[in-house]
Amino acid sequence: MRDLSRNWRGRGLRVGLVPTMGNLHAGHLTLVESLAGAVDRLVVSIFVNPLQFGAGEDYESYPRTLEADRRALSAYPVDALFAPGAQEMYPHGEPVTVIDLPALTGTLCGAARPGHFAGVALVVAKLFHIVEPDEAAFGAKDYQQLQVVRRLTADLDLPVEVVAVPTVREPDGLAMSSRNHYLTPAERETAPALYETLRGVARELRAGRREYAALEREAAALLQEHGFDEVDYVAVRRPGDLAPPAGGEPRLVCLAAARLGAARLIDNLEVDLNP
Ligand code: PAJ
Repeated sequence: MRDLSRNWRGRGLRVGLVPTMGNLHAGHLTLVESLAGAVDRLVVSIFVNPLQFGAGEDYESYPRTLEADRRALSAYPVDALFAPGAQEMYPHGEPVTVIDLPALTGTLCGAARPGHFAGVALVVAKLFHIVEPDEAAFGAKDYQQLQVVRRLTADLDLPVEVVAVPTVREPDGLAMSSRNHYLTPAERETAPALYETLRGVARELRAGRREYAALEREAAALLQEHGFDEVDYVAVRRPGDLAPPAGGEPRLVCLAAARLGAARLIDNLEVDLNP
C-alpha cells in the first residue's frame, strides 16, 4: 500500500484516504464523494479494528460485507481498496504503544467506552503512516472521533489535511450507521427520536436557554420516554475541545448516546447561537 501511494505521490499526484470499518452505506460513500474531487488518487480502507472494541462489545458480530462493499465502491472513482486482516495490521500482536488524548477522551463516548479512542487513535495513526495521504475524510457523525483525529494530527504534525463531512441521514432524520442493522422494526421506528431530541435541545439553546444541566436531564428523560433503554449521555459542549460551555460561546454542540435494543446509537448537532 505504501509503495503504491509513494509511487503516486512521487508523480506529483495528491492522495486521499477514507478510513472505514466497512459495511458501507450512503454516509461512507459521501465521504468518498467529497474527497474524489479534491485528490488525484483515492484510497478507501476497510478494517474492523479489534483495538477499538471493548470487552462485551460487538467486535465478533460487527457486519463484515467485503464483497458488497467492493460492489458499492465500483460506482466511485476509487483507485485502491486497502482491506488488511488483523494479522497484517498487528503482526507483532497487540501494540504496546498507546496514543492517548485524555483531555478529549475522558468524557462522552470515551467515558462510556474506556480504551475505545486509544484504539481509534492508534489505527488512524497507522493508516496515515501506511497510506501517507495528503487528505483524509472523517464524518461529523462521530463527532468526538473527529476531534480526536484532528488533535492527534495537529499534535503529532502528521502531514494530512483532515476533511470533515456533515452527517448523512435517513429521510426520517436517523443518522446512517452500520449499527442501525441491529434495530428491530419497532426499534427502528423509535430511533429517529434521538435526532429529534437533539433538535429540541438546539431549539431551546437558540431561544436563549442556558441551563445546560437541566436541558441535558430533560432530553435524557425524553429519550427514555420514547423507549430508549439506557441513555449514556446527552451533553451540551464546546465544539473544538468538548469542554462544558463557559458562557459566551458563539457555537455549541449537542451530543447524545443511547442504547436501543442491541444498538448503541450516537448523534450530534452543532448549534449557531449568533446566526
Ligand atoms: P466507520 O464507523 O466505518 O466510519 C467510517 C467513517 O464514516 C467515519 O469517519 C465516520 O464518521 C463516517 N460516517 C459513518 N456514518 C456516517 C454518516 N451517517 N454520515 C457521515 N459520515 C459517516 O469510524 C470508524 O469506522 C472507525 O472508527 C475508523 C475511523 C475507520 C477507525 O477504525
